[in-house]
Amino acid sequence: MQQETIIVLDFGGQYNQLIARRVRECNVYCEIYSYRTPLEKIKAKNPKGIIFTGGPNSAYLPESPTIDPAIYGWGIPILGICYGSQLMMHMLGGKVCKAPEREYGKTLVDFDSATPLFAGIPAQNTCWMSHNDYIAQPAPGFAITAHTPNCPVAAAEDAARGLYAIQFHPEVLHTQNGTQMLHNFVYNICGCAGTWKMDSFVEHTVEELREKIGGGKVLCALSGGVDSSVCAALLAKAVGKQLTCVFVDHGLLRKNEREQVCAVFGEGGSFDINFICVDARDRFYNKLKEQSAPETKRKIIGEEFIRVFEDEAKKLGAVDYLAQGTIYPDVVESGLGGESAVIKSHHNVGGLPDTVDFKALVEPLRDLFKDEVRQAGRELGLPEYLVARQPFPGPGLAIRIIGDVTPEKVAIVQEADAIWREEVDKLPVAERPSQYFAALTNMQSVGVMGDERTYDYAIALRAVTTTDFMTAEITPLPQATILAAASRIVNEVKNINRVLFDYTTKPPATIEFE
Ligand code: XMP
Repeated sequence: MQQETIIVLDFGGQYNQLIARRVRECNVYCEIYSYRTPLEKIKAKNPKGIIFTGGPNSAYLPESPTIDPAIYGWGIPILGICYGSQLMMHMLGGKVCKAPEREYGKTLVDFDSATPLFAGIPAQNTCWMSHNDYIAQPAPGFAITAHTPNCPVAAAEDAARGLYAIQFHPEVLHTQNGTQMLHNFVYNICGCAGTWKMDSFVEHTVEELREKIGGGKVLCALSGGVDSSVCAALLAKAVGKQLTCVFVDHGLLRKNEREQVCAVFGEGGSFDINFICVDARDRFYNKLKEQSAPETKRKIIGEEFIRVFEDEAKKLGAVDYLAQGTIYPDVVESGLGGESAVIKSHHNVGGLPDTVDFKALVEPLRDLFKDEVRQAGRELGLPEYLVARQPFPGPGLAIRIIGDVTPEKVAIVQEADAIWREEVDKLPVAERPSQYFAALTNMQSVGVMGDERTYDYAIALRAVTTTDFMTAEITPLPQATILAAASRIVNEVKNINRVLFDYTTKPPATIEFE
């Protein structure tokens, strides 16, 4: 079935993924492509509408990103946002130039006429602006539909041609009613019906997997994280016993994590699959003995993980498919989707154990954003503690223990971390940090317990708020939460006599300690 699709053409804007996510929140499927994508390829996708993103360039400079002008005569509605709006105006004969005053931040915008794009939007609405250039004069055929004191053309449209330009960013939450505007575009203007729903995604994907896999055997490395768990659950539903999941306990997991994963995927759990839980704790502890350099630890763990996985795969013999929990941001950030970011080459894309014998990859989550993966997980009946999980690094607690790793230190950090998470989880969901954990510093200091002098470890608590994990702010938690956790940790966890709170943003610190 052809899914109704909106295409986001990426001109290097920082919010490109956010636009696609917002459109999908309106139950319309949306994909991101670079502005360099040939028009023929975009046409072949048969989209219901196009959105041009923002970007850092000036539309009137000759080397700036541009697009095949034939796109404007195609007849498919186009919404230009920020740079996208300026580019549209510039290409169609309007005047774009440096604004006398840069506009940045929340700005009160006056909406001048009731148009389908702004249906249900009040006459004055706070919008997020971020631009140095502005549209001084719209292109012929366009009517101005919104302005601000510093921006004569905050929005303009040529409804007959289906062309819409807005200077502000509807996709960021600082813009009031921003999602409503995108909703108006995809429904009122592009005529979408809203067919993108997670229950139908699960249903279709299960059918597609059955068709693709046939009677073949599938191997899946299950980490217990959200993506690999949902990937495994989809495959379990599709092909049952043809699926073998390998879960490696490297001894660096959080408290009870192994039990939680085994309860869902193991014997007596929700799925009828082959589940192998490898207890490789000693293998990893031995390799990590007396190693204290962060990069060395990471490398040892990465390599050993592949060795363990290969050992298990060998026992199974040849498989037909290897399943991976690659998700859409992995694809986009690896430079395969949009324009803006070859920010990091992601570990899920292209990093395969090359000695495992398989015919093809299956990546059933390749089209989904993280929040959609979680929704799919809920549809599949996975418990909340798996689908709502915060990110947890592959090397696990080894990079939350500064210096060398021992089983004793792992036990200390596991206990402290469990208490910290328990206390933070008492807060309403909206107030919780994006990532919060405890890390064991390598510092021992003097304390007093009862009448005894102690010389024990200091644990550090971390709580950050971030959307992209590239930068992070410190979450302003209630003092009572921190005090309760600190008090419980020194009372309940042996070998800790001091609790520190890390107030460092990223940058200059990273989220993890190593
Ligand atoms: P940093 O510490 O670089 O972390 O600020 C940013 C985000 O990435 C996670 N992280 C990792 N995830 N393997 C992973 O799968 C890793 O080696 C790794 N190192 C860091 C970290 O938890 C944070 O969410």
